[in-house]
Amino acid sequence: MSFDFLRTRVEQQDLLNLKRRRVLVEQQNARHLVVDGKQYLNFSSNDYLGLNHHPEINKALAQGVEKFGSCSSASSLISGYQYAHQHLEEKVCQWLNKPKCLLFNSGFSANQAVLSSLANENVAFYLDKLSHASLIDGAFGQNGYAKRFKHNDYAHLDQLLTTSKYSNKLVVSEGVFSMDGDAADTAILGNICQTNHAKLYIDDAHAIGIKGTHGEGSVADNADIDIIMATCGKAIATSGAFIACDNDLHDYLVNFARHYIYSTAMSPANAWATAVSIELIEKEHWRREKINHLSQLFSTKLDQHVNLLPTSSSIHAIVLGSEQQAIEAANKLKAQGIWLTAIRPPTVAKGTSRLRVTMCSSHKEQDINYLAESINKVIQ
Ligand SMILES: Cc1ncc(COP(=O)(O)O)c(C=O)c1O
Repeated sequence: MSFDFLRTRVEQQDLLNLKRRRVLVEQQNARHLVVDGKQYLNFSSNDYLGLNHHPEINKALAQGVEKFGSCSSASSLISGYQYAHQHLEEKVCQWLNKPKCLLFNSGFSANQAVLSSLANENVAFYLDKLSHASLIDGAFGQNGYAKRFKHNDYAHLDQLLTTSKYSNKLVVSEGVFSMDGDAADTAILGNICQTNHAKLYIDDAHAIGIKGTHGEGSVADNADIDIIMATCGKAIATSGAFIACDNDLHDYLVNFARHYIYSTAMSPANAWATAVSIELIEKEHWRREKINHLSQLFSTKLDQHVNLLPTSSSIHAIVLGSEQQAIEAANKLKAQGIWLTAIRPPTVAKGTSRLRVTMCSSHKEQDINYLAESINKVIQ
């Protein structure tokens, strides 16, 4: 029968402990979630700053619907680009100190849009090995040349750039790596790019809101990053994404980025609420301090035998090894009232399945103590 592979591929995934299943979440905030009527401590949310449900953001969303309606009604180049979008773009430019900003409906599409529209026979992309799927999909399989450098290995990157025959080189990295929680050194990356006449693209999905005195992300360490992508669906607690860049790239994307041109513009109410969220992020530094405090507490409470990867972010990865081990550990923690997800291949490399703990500013010290105690017991 045609399309038999649909069923067989999924069955194979199941046999390998790799089958993905969705869970119906009945309620959630950055501290708790409810599944099947049972409340769990939530350590799997990307709402790092605990801004989801914030009354000022909710109010701005409602005001936005009142002013602009529930959708943008068209793609940006037709008639979908409205005052709320312009207002948010200006807010981002001022926040990150960049000349231009362009809004997308997701981080996935923003990454794909930039890389696929830049690709041509004179362009080479150099991506960190641990780059997100959207960066890989955007860079590989296009007309341009794409190569991955060893994770955070700048000597390797330098060697690739020095020997590159391409006149247009783009170095791509995440600011904070989504599955390991470690950070790129964007200042060193900037120097290497400058020496080798390359441009630097940083996906700041997990650094925006978290890094910097005003939550400005990786630009806190390197103000000269050429292109910044950040999603609004994590610390910013709305949805969509933006690219912050110079005038030339902005105009190029408006003309050639298919994900921008052929997609309905972000809901203007969402843009309106996002601008308010950024204002809160800029001024409420206590949320970042709380994450740092809780993160430190967590690492001091874990037993020596727990393999916690070094991190300076909200993301704490505990590598266990096999898919089976990760699933079993996550299930045992669930039985203790703790919700966190087992991360398995292909999201991470084979043999490095792990628990990914996300620390949010809404957690309390008692939550972290309980989490660490439970992990110490579950992982022997
Ligand atoms: C590093 C990174 N880049 C891009 C994305 C995609 O962002 P979005 O969820 O807005 O599509 C994600 C997360 O999902 C991510 O972790």
